[in-house]
Amino acid sequence: MPLTGSAHRVLSADDATVTALLNCLVREVCAPEDQVRPQGRHLLIRLPRLGVLLRARLARPPVAFAFRLRTPCEERRDGAWIEVGWRRLADLVAGELELATGLPNPEFCAQVADSRAALSALLAARRDPPAHATGVEGYLASEQSLIAGHRFHPAPKARQGRPPEWLPYAPEAGARFRLRWLGVRADLVAEGGEAGAFAALESLGPAPPPGHRLLPVHPWQLGLLADRPVLRRALASGLVTDLGTAGPPVAPTSSVRTVYVPGADVFCKFSLDVRITNCVRKNSWYELVGAVTLDRLLRPVFARLADRFDGCRLLPEPAYRSVHLADRRLHEGLGVILRGGIADLPGTPLLAAALADPYGAGPGSLAGLACMRGPDGALEWWRRYVRLVAPPVLEAYLSHGVVLEPHLQNVLVSVDGEGMPLRAAFRDLEGTKLVGDRWEAELAGLPGRVREALTYDADRGWNRVVYCLLVNHLAEIAAAVADLYPRHEAELWRILRDRIAGYAREHGGDPRLRALLAGAPLPAKANLRTRWSRSPDRAAGYVPVPNPLRFLPG
Ligand SMILES: Nc1ncnc2c1ncn2[C@@H]1O[C@H](COP(=O)(O)OP(=O)(O)OP(=O)(O)O)[C@@H](O)[C@H]1O
Ligand SMILES: [Mg+2]
Repeated sequence: MPLTGSAHRVLSADDATVTALLNCLVREVCAPEDQVRPQGRHLLIRLPRLGVLLRARLARPPVAFAFRLRTPCEERRDGAWIEVGWRRLADLVAGELELATGLPNPEFCAQVADSRAALSALLAARRDPPAHATGVEGYLASEQSLIAGHRFHPAPKARQGRPPEWLPYAPEAGARFRLRWLGVRADLVAEGGEAGAFAALESLGPAPPPGHRLLPVHPWQLGLLADRPVLRRALASGLVTDLGTAGPPVAPTSSVRTVYVPGADVFCKFSLDVRITNCVRKNSWYELVGAVTLDRLLRPVFARLADRFDGCRLLPEPAYRSVHLADRRLHEGLGVILRGGIADLPGTPLLAAALADPYGAGPGSLAGLACMRGPDGALEWWRRYVRLVAPPVLEAYLSHGVVLEPHLQNVLVSVDGEGMPLRAAFRDLEGTKLVGDRWEAELAGLPGRVREALTYDADRGWNRVVYCLLVNHLAEIAAAVADLYPRHEAELWRILRDRIAGYAREHGGDPRLRALLAGAPLPAKANLRTRWSRSPDRAAGYVPVPNPLRFLPG
């Protein structure tokens, strides 16, 4: 049941597009050049090279970088404020970036337009989420609730193809569909990790022909690969048999390409040759091997973290499967990583991104949690939340050299019947890295490309941890709590600061933590600039943002 009218905002494709562009523009272009200034209930935003002045509404006075921007966005023209729509704003952002970088990007405005069109299609196709749902149904509703998507990306919903092609697979539209299955001649099956990990999933599939084994496939992806000559020949000669669709309906999760299979309580992380936000979602050969390698290496680490930090978990990725055919794109494009499920998590697991979503409604939203009625409940909720999420991430890095990627889409938090946090579960081994020099011995026997993809140097790893944990994740959850209780925003940051300071004391005064608590700027991933320069995600840069841990009145 929605808690207050103030929290839940009605989502329109135009508003969400404008807000996401503004969020990126302020964070990556205008604030670093000192071109933003709060003025009353607005934030003034100057595009210094174009000489354009914009303003957007501020939901409340900012705490450091945590501006809560609202539409309308207006432009100063001839002494008056004129409303700016998403098209004009995209043009202005493009103009400023072209002048700032010296590089044109003729695709940029079309990407913004595609994202907006996809959002419109999703809004039209979407059914209302269940008002009350717990357990697996509540979990899936929260995975499928990210309609507007990443709040700091210029084209968060852009998806290749026309809506009728992808809506059947869109989590935001509440999709359920059946998997496609291939029978692959046994000697052509490529696999790694734990033998037998696929058994529960296979038991839901069709019977393979003798001498063949099952490979589950995402139907959208099979359509994208259907013209590969090597696949056509393999199908024609019987090396690979198309066994059609079978098994129970599965549910796509927020990443689109990873689906949950309820009957087997597993996830399948498929390749999907479609660009979603910054990457084409393909499991490269070295990521298939890397996932199961990390899974093995991280089990003892997480056993220790779970003992120390309230039973926190990492969703395992024990095995992968694909085909050995004379086409690398098929090996990667049909590669599927098996991820362990959620049945053993207590209460109802909710996706952190759903909790942070300012447009959120329904069972996975903050406003839907009974315990958020009243500021005391909200502060207690936040105290428990940061205790579950922050210390294990810091400990993983500082004591074990493990760089988790705890952004909002990679963390689940189980809640009890009142909505109080019980346990954190981290996921997504593709984004999880090891600090190279700490893990040299364990990684020594691996192919160079696998090792390279699994490791970060210590500084890059720390930046990633701080960005994902604080900027992408906790700042956004804090902002969502502050949407409900605006006067308590500084208190939320104080609680977080106390938790990090407490952990720092236990950890013996680590200099990185000391700098964090002293207010050293935080790194924010530059999604807008990355898209503008058309760089691969792994080359994404960061921009510094002010650190609210030091802006603490009282
Ligand atoms: N705050 C956020 N930070 C990062 N991604 C977000 C955020 N909000 C929404 N998303 C979306 O979540 C997805 C994150 O992709 P990511 O690379 O973590 O997942 P994946 O590797 O494809 O799949 P999985 O998470 O199942 O392993 C993208 O589609 C992105 O747009
Ligand atoms: Mg992810």
